Amino acid sequence: MNSLKQWVANSSEAVNIRLVKAVPGGGSDDDDEGEDIIEFNPVFTYPIFGEQEQIFGYKDLMINLEFASGSLTSCFSMGYKEKKPTADKIYATMKDFLPEDIIDNHDLFTQIAQRDYISFKPMGTKVSEYRSNAEGAENSVFEFYQCKFDTPRFLEFHKRMQCFAIFFIEGASIIEDTDEKWEIRLLFERVSENGQETYNFVGYCNMYPYFYYPDQIRMRISQFLIMPPYQQQGHGSRLYQSLYTDFCSRKEIREMTVEDPNEEFSDMRDKNDMKHLDSKGVFKDLQAPVKKDRIEQVAETYKLTKRQVARCFELALLRNLD
Ligand code: ACO
Repeated sequence: MNSLKQWVANSSEAVNIRLVKAVPGGGSDDDDEGEDIIEFNPVFTYPIFGEQEQIFGYKDLMINLEFASGSLTSCFSMGYKEKKPTADKIYATMKDFLPEDIIDNHDLFTQIAQRDYISFKPMGTKVSEYRSNAEGAENSVFEFYQCKFDTPRFLEFHKRMQCFAIFFIEGASIIEDTDEKWEIRLLFERVSENGQETYNFVGYCNMYPYFYYPDQIRMRISQFLIMPPYQQQGHGSRLYQSLYTDFCSRKEIREMTVEDPNEEFSDMRDKNDMKHLDSKGVFKDLQAPVKKDRIEQVAETYKLTKRQVARCFELALLRNLD
């Protein structure tokens, strides 16, 4: 065995993110009863540890980032079998990307997480809610909240959640939280059990309004994230639809755009835009070639970009092929 290799860890494998539902009265360190934990790894750690995503100097390294599932109060801990004196400094490297108020005392974290489990409520203006038929969501209602950075309690919450953008969205950076123009839509799961209502963080989208000549705005979706345990259950589509409905109802918004969409997002966006345009009869009697005027008119009516409308027309035409 290459003896050097055992001192090198892949940073995305070494980091464990844990979402903790800490039910008060349950469990201690050796007895996890009362703690419901969902664990997963980040997808990207290169913005923190560099292109190679490697950490040097530890054998069997584990970096644990625990988050209370609703309030996102967090705790940092790490473990390893052996450490070289020249080992990379992990906390110092990660610090700028982690919540400012992250703690390293696990007992204190459990206490706070138990308190938050009962008392945490989402911040901002509630926009709407829906139920999901995903497995295990029978007692859940999913709620959207709209925030800006001056929304009470939001700035603190944002400082906790922004590391997820780094971990799960390629090329994401920490956004300027002093710019009051940002709009953020949060998605929470409200669970009703044993006469108690508790909240889990599900995902979010942040958007920035750009000027659209002469007197309107182009709303640009910047970061869009559904947390891993909730992905592929329709929540991303619900979030996208809720934003689109909102943009359509706001006169000042002329167009919705997306910053650097990845393939999964583009698939989700296409599916939802196609469904919507289909429901409005836009593809009726569609034949190639589609005139430029038609694309412009549909884009204006439905507040989509011309590029996205052209893409939907293309998909609709392909759908009609045998
Ligand atoms: N691979 C391929 N297609 C996907 C995937 C995937 N991993 N996830 C969703 N889709 C597409 C599918 O077409 C799916 O329809 P189907 O289920 O009928 O096949 C459709 O999206 C809708 O699926 P949802 O369940 O609504 O999507 P989800 O809730 O998982 O949200 C999202 C999709 C936002 C991409 C989510 O998986 C996620 O947050 N991923 C990690 C972060 C990320 O990639 N964010 C987008 C970056 S781009 C940006 O921020 C602007």
